[in-house]
Amino acid sequence: MSVERPVDLRSDTLTRPTEAMRAAMASAEVGDDVYGEDPTVARLEERVAVMFGHEAALFMPTGSMSNVLAVRSLVAPGQEVLCEASAHIARAELGAHGAYSGVTMRTWIHPRGQIDLDVVRSLYAPDMGPFFVRTAAISVENTHNFAGGAMLPLESLRELREFATGVGVRIHLDGARIWNAHVAAGTPLVEYGAVADVMSVCLSKGLGAPVGSLLVGSRDTVTEARVWRKRMGGGMRQVGILAAAGLYALDHHVDRLADDHAHARLLAEACGVDPALVDTNIVVVQRSDAASFVEAAAAQGVRVATVGPTVVRLVTHLDVTRGDAERAASVLATL
Ligand SMILES: Cc1ncc(COP(=O)(O)O)c(C=O)c1O
Repeated sequence: MSVERPVDLRSDTLTRPTEAMRAAMASAEVGDDVYGEDPTVARLEERVAVMFGHEAALFMPTGSMSNVLAVRSLVAPGQEVLCEASAHIARAELGAHGAYSGVTMRTWIHPRGQIDLDVVRSLYAPDMGPFFVRTAAISVENTHNFAGGAMLPLESLRELREFATGVGVRIHLDGARIWNAHVAAGTPLVEYGAVADVMSVCLSKGLGAPVGSLLVGSRDTVTEARVWRKRMGGGMRQVGILAAAGLYALDHHVDRLADDHAHARLLAEACGVDPALVDTNIVVVQRSDAASFVEAAAAQGVRVATVGPTVVRLVTHLDVTRGDAERAASVLATL
């Protein structure tokens, strides 16, 4: 009897490099990147900076480190960043922004991770000397992971930009999945770049690279972040091997994200979630029995994850084919 491979929908970080990506990695030209001598890293950084219309970019080991250094480039110790309450920087970076950078956070709540500009306005705190924490930055996440891969419309990003510029506050964009937003909304990447002072983008999620994120911003920001990256132990040597995977992913794995989005809508329907709520590759299912749902799905060859006591998350990605998505949908529909 043949045993079918489980369909793994726990995360889009689970992808394994394809043969073609491995070949690109194996033949990458490399040098010591701490010396600034890795030509493949330099090509990746230059390409990503241009894609977003910024001056420079810096290759990072993880999205978390990239977010930490991006936020610290905008917010001094003792100042605050405002963000949505379930933002990755607030919920899933283990307090790094406080632990390493002395940054405090205040949050607004939106079930779809959107920008509530009225609330942001009311949260904003100008410099009030020795009395209140000063708001130095606002961070937004596009797409928003824990809000089910929801996109932030360009219009609301532009309104936020206008408000932030007016009050002298800067904007960080956590674009771990900006590629999904770009493909789903058809918004040029450079338009997203234009609303942010600094961004973090990941190659290791939907794009299917094994490792890697980039901090994107001004030349000065990147020069300083390079020092901090080394200080935090993130100076990498012949890392062109990994940058080559990123370059390959940018060439071959962006447009295909539309398939992941279609697969996510298929899974949503099977789970009784309105597909109109699925903007990209993540489906959030509310289940009071989340843990037993996960177990029952696993018993039938479909791996899903809980991201809260009553929340199940399904994520489609490069290693989930149409056939896998259909198989998973038929299993989940019975649960
Ligand atoms: C929105 C978002 N930002 C940042 C990160 C952090 O990326 P990493 O796991 O590479 O640290 C993630 C990880 O899933 C994420 O979903």
